[in-house]
Amino acid sequence: MNSKKFVLDFVKRHKAKYIFGIIFVLVVDVLQMVLPRIIGQITDDMQNRTINKAMLLSYAGLILLVALLTMTFRYLYRIYIIGTEKKLEYELRKKLFDHMLTLSSKYYNTHKTGDLMAHATNDINAVRMAAGMGVLLLVDTVFLTISVIIIMLATIDIRLTLIALSPLPLIAIFSMVFGKFIHKRFTQVQEAFSGLTERVQESLSGIRVVKAFVQERPVLEQFNAASQKSLEKNMRLARLWGIMFPLGQMVATLSYIIAFSYGGIQVINGHISLGEFIAFNTYLGLLIWPMMSFGWIMNIVQRGSASLDRINVILTAIPDIKDNDPLPIGSIEGHIEFENVSFSYNKKQEPVLKDININLEPGRTLAIIGETGSGKTSLVNLILRLYDISGGKLKIDGSPIDRIPLSTLRTSIGYVPQDSFLFSTSIRENIAFGVEKASIKEIEEAAKTAQIYDNIMDLPDGFDTIVGERGVTLSGGQKQRVSIARALIKDPKILVLDDSLSAVDTDTEERILQGLKVIMKDRTSIIIAHRISSIKHADEIIVLDNGQIVERGRHDRLIDLKGHYYSLYQKQLLEEELDRA
Ligand SMILES: Nc1ncnc2c1ncn2[C@@H]1O[C@H](COP(=O)(O)OP(=O)(O)OP(=O)(O)O)[C@@H](O)[C@H]1O
Ligand SMILES: [Mg+2]
Repeated sequence: MNSKKFVLDFVKRHKAKYIFGIIFVLVVDVLQMVLPRIIGQITDDMQNRTINKAMLLSYAGLILLVALLTMTFRYLYRIYIIGTEKKLEYELRKKLFDHMLTLSSKYYNTHKTGDLMAHATNDINAVRMAAGMGVLLLVDTVFLTISVIIIMLATIDIRLTLIALSPLPLIAIFSMVFGKFIHKRFTQVQEAFSGLTERVQESLSGIRVVKAFVQERPVLEQFNAASQKSLEKNMRLARLWGIMFPLGQMVATLSYIIAFSYGGIQVINGHISLGEFIAFNTYLGLLIWPMMSFGWIMNIVQRGSASLDRINVILTAIPDIKDNDPLPIGSIEGHIEFENVSFSYNKKQEPVLKDININLEPGRTLAIIGETGSGKTSLVNLILRLYDISGGKLKIDGSPIDRIPLSTLRTSIGYVPQDSFLFSTSIRENIAFGVEKASIKEIEEAAKTAQIYDNIMDLPDGFDTIVGERGVTLSGGQKQRVSIARALIKDPKILVLDDSLSAVDTDTEERILQGLKVIMKDRTSIIIAHRISSIKHADEIIVLDNGQIVERGRHDRLIDLKGHYYSLYQKQLLEEELDRA
């Protein structure tokens, strides 16, 4: 659904709230217009000396009543509209995030997270303001202006009204022109501020690198420059704001001068009463604010509509990986077949994988080895359908991978990504991340198999220890093992380890592999590794080079081949000997 329809739909659903909000605003406007009449009446009564103490008291009571009613209705419309506005924000944000979760890895490769975050905050705010207060203030301004002018024309004096009001359109024009510039400068202020926060965020998250390379001073200078820029932009905005209000007031004063001199003469000539003169001036006062705020309100509405367009771009982005005409498959066995598969991240690029042929029977173990950048991670990404293949056929249990329901496919795979990303929650929650409910026993079992149990028990709060930015920092190898436990607890039909043993020592590696052997007996596994020790027991080993399979077979056969694999093996043996020496 596009964003305009979404907002319209929301307004329709909350019709009653909007209608009542508008009615309340109109009531407040009418009450405001009553006040000058009362004051005019009092003045005339005083001048004619027809007033007594009791009447004065009742006038005071009336004014109090009007003030109380104004207060009540103003409160009511604010509650109605602000409440509705917040609800819109909530629903729109939910919708946006929900949609963002459906977008594929490819989308996130080409869009900056920072920008997406900005949409989720600034743009949604702007839409909320426009669709709430913006609409209300617009109704308020237009209604108040028109009715006050009509009242002035009808009940006081046509010529006086026309002459006295003649400078007022100037204010509206000023405020629109200024509004445009203010908006421009305001955007610059925001940009400068997000530039500044980005700097701080990056410097602080990279603080170890900054310190290790003794770059505190340059980083501080960059920060100063960004900070200076932000200050300048703010000053530019302040100067504009600073001049706008006094200018408006000046024009308003012009109106008052005309009203006083021309209106005064009318009073002297007896054309209008003193009370009408006072009422007229009070009405004039009522008009100033709507004139001044008109440009501002137009701006809120314009900004809201621009933001809505930006949100729309995200909301209408079509997820390129989704279920299309899925087969009714609820579980999978784990038979993986690649037939002449090729793959490239984008059409302009050279393929990253070429002529890949693999037939991996359920329960078997495939190992992938190859230089960095040879395409190992890309290959397993295809099995998870994080990307779609560019050519050939990829089948799971004999069905094309894109016909298998995504949720079936992905719940059946235990994936340990190359960068073991952990969320800033407890270790328990991190391990249980992919399953709906996990018993303590299951979590502990997974941790034991991943050889991380003892480490966790040594932490201050055991499984409840919080990891990440506000918690304990785990070592690279510990993170990898938590990440393995997270994959194992899913009880997956297919296990994918992408270089997941690289940061653990060879003894731990051996124990993890032993543990996995038992668990993975009837399941399919794919192990990517740089160390031959991690993979030599695999049923099949493929050597990838520049996106192609250059050697394949069991360990012994590959050694006999005396090719890539063999030389890698020799190199690693030599390293081990050097280590031991
Ligand atoms: N998201 C991406 N967009 C474009 N190109 C990519 C992307 N990810 C990887 N590549 C490119 O694809 C090629 C294969 O990368 P891949 O990550 O599959 O290598 P790898 O064998 O896993 O390497 P390593 O051993 O370092 O993990 C590389 O040339 C890389 O630059
Ligand atoms: Mg990789």
